[in-house]
Amino acid sequence: MRDSAEPHTAIADPMLPIAMRVSEAWRELDDVVSLRLVTKDGAPFAFAPGQFNMLYAFGVGEAAISISGDPARTGELLHTIRDVGAVSGALTRLKAGDEVGVRGPFGSSWPVDSEHDRHLLFVAGGLGLAPLRPAIYRALATRHRFASITLIMGARSPRDLLYPYQLAGWTASHALRLNITVDHAGPEWTGSVGVVTTEFARALAGIDPAKVSAYLCGPEIMMRFGAMGLADMGVSTERMWLSMERSMKCAIGLCGHCQFGPDFVCKDGPVFRHDEIARRLTLKEI
Ligand SMILES: Cc1cc2nc3c(=O)[nH]c(=O)nc-3n(C[C@H](O)[C@H](O)[C@H](O)COP(=O)(O)OP(=O)(O)OC[C@H]3O[C@@H](n4cnc5c(N)ncnc54)[C@H](O)[C@@H]3O)c2cc1C
Ligand code: FES
Repeated sequence: MRDSAEPHTAIADPMLPIAMRVSEAWRELDDVVSLRLVTKDGAPFAFAPGQFNMLYAFGVGEAAISISGDPARTGELLHTIRDVGAVSGALTRLKAGDEVGVRGPFGSSWPVDSEHDRHLLFVAGGLGLAPLRPAIYRALATRHRFASITLIMGARSPRDLLYPYQLAGWTASHALRLNITVDHAGPEWTGSVGVVTTEFARALAGIDPAKVSAYLCGPEIMMRFGAMGLADMGVSTERMWLSMERSMKCAIGLCGHCQFGPDFVCKDGPVFRHDEIARRLTLKEI
């Protein structure tokens, strides 16, 4: 385990986790938990929106988990984890005071800092809001640089919506334009029903598609059809970014586990520009 006295931006040994403490753990959904992590010595942990860490559940193993908090808050790390197997399950059972190993941050980021005068469109499906949220925080903190900020959020049902308290806060403060849609809902739901693409026309009404920059994160099929739908509306494929997931082991481009065509998702991604990977998205075996 690496000593955590240094600021955790320059990675001394990227294979050596630092021990961090869980300061808070709370349930977001039936199978999803968020962890707030702090370094044991209070040293800052800087990251760029879209990057991920390898979280090590002691005695169980490591998993790639996106950083889901505000990049301006370098004193803590937020991670939102769905229990799908041994490692993620162990991480979701951590409690305040427990320790977890952290390697990172790794990977490419949403290019929000290089956008100017653009209409920012975030498209999130399910847990996809977690890797997008740091970019939304960053965009909101520099709101004056953008023509508009819109979030289209898709979920299976109203009770599967991630961060409902956050969505309510953003709506109440008019921080951004929010379009929520669910696959199915009971009669009490008064919002939209349908896939995220059904929201595009409403979200982009009155907006010049040539001035839109879109960031998509969610199930691969949602991102593929989402990007196609936006391209049909005139959004440039060079102005769309997607966050990809592949099985990871080293996270530093050595082992080849995360190969995605000619790229490694851990170091060339996870955030890719759509035109650079569009063809690969249609190939099943990649
Ligand atoms: C860059 C990146 C960011 C990620 N961010 C998050 C996050 O913020 N929150 C979160 O909950 N998960 C995230 N994941 C997915 C997470 O890494 C996997 O769910 C985790 O590794 C599963 O490990 P496990 O031991 O719990 O389950 P395993 O036993 O390894 O797998 C359980 C099931 O999940 C499938 N699976 C495992 N890993 C992946 C993967 N990467 N993509 C698709 N299916 C997979 C397996 O095929 C199996 O069906 C991310 C993955 C990547 C690559
Ligand atoms: S995880 Fe080893 S090369 Fe990407």
